[in-house]
Amino acid sequence: MEYSNLIYSEENGIGLLTINRPQALNALNRQTMQELHTFFLQDAPRKAGLKGLIITGAGEKAFVAGADIKEFLQLDAAAGRDMARFGHEVFNAIEQFPKPIIAAVNGFALGGGCELAMACHLRIAGEKARFGQPEVKLGITPGYGGTQRLIQYLGKGKAMELLLTADMIGAEEALQLGLVNQLVPAGEEVKEARALLEKIAQNGPIAIAKIIELVNAYFRYNDDGFEREIRAFGETTGTQDFKEGATAFIEKRKPAFKGR
Ligand code: COA
Repeated sequence: MEYSNLIYSEENGIGLLTINRPQALNALNRQTMQELHTFFLQDAPRKAGLKGLIITGAGEKAFVAGADIKEFLQLDAAAGRDMARFGHEVFNAIEQFPKPIIAAVNGFALGGGCELAMACHLRIAGEKARFGQPEVKLGITPGYGGTQRLIQYLGKGKAMELLLTADMIGAEEALQLGLVNQLVPAGEEVKEARALLEKIAQNGPIAIAKIIELVNAYFRYNDDGFEREIRAFGETTGTQDFKEGATAFIEKRKPAFKGR
């Protein structure tokens, strides 16, 4: 299929998928999410001879700076919940994909971008990578798995801190905390991801698929947390605070939350 916001290329059985909206720091608007859905649920599973995939962001500044806040003002509670459910479907398909997927994080990985990186099986960060879940700043909760997967990588204490403060962490700290697997010089993310996939591809493909399935199976007990996240995203997108938070971002000012 033809994509407008994704670029796909393949070399020696390794696919490179680039999220391509650099003017919006590769923010995941509706069109991009639809394309990711088609890619991971229809196109990628049919690719013969695929050894693995790399996901990265276009430009030098961002991997993905989150969901597209400029589309947020059209949301109400029901649309917010639907949006979160759709995103979960896409990110679950990434997490459960039977070939290894590496996020090559070249810059900001915020909100949906951090969630996308966490849905991948491995993460290679360049020195300029920055991670965070800043949704609370907008008066909403993460909606693409962030509240659940951040705990899986960081543990409860640090996940709680990042989710409540909206603080960003740099690549070095992300490496120390176990959020990323490797830290590499800026610009080398894709090259190193390719080398790691080549190494993994030396191993048995059936065993690789089983490892992915089994490691994911360890976390299956928290399915209820993912469902609650979807509902919470809907509930928070129905608030006046959320309209204020998104409007304030677009108008480049501080939000004045009222708790309504
Ligand atoms: N949705 C829509 N547009 C976004 C975006 C997003 N998530 N993140 C950045 N952009 C846009 C900006 O609005 C800006 O567009 P403009 O030039 O038309 O004003 C452009 O991308 C560049 O971003 P800018 O904010 O000017 O860059 P910066 O270097 O000053 O700051 C960030 C970079 C990532 C810190 C900042 O863009 C940011 O906080 N983004 C939102 C992150 C977020 O809250 N994500 C979670 C959403 S749920």
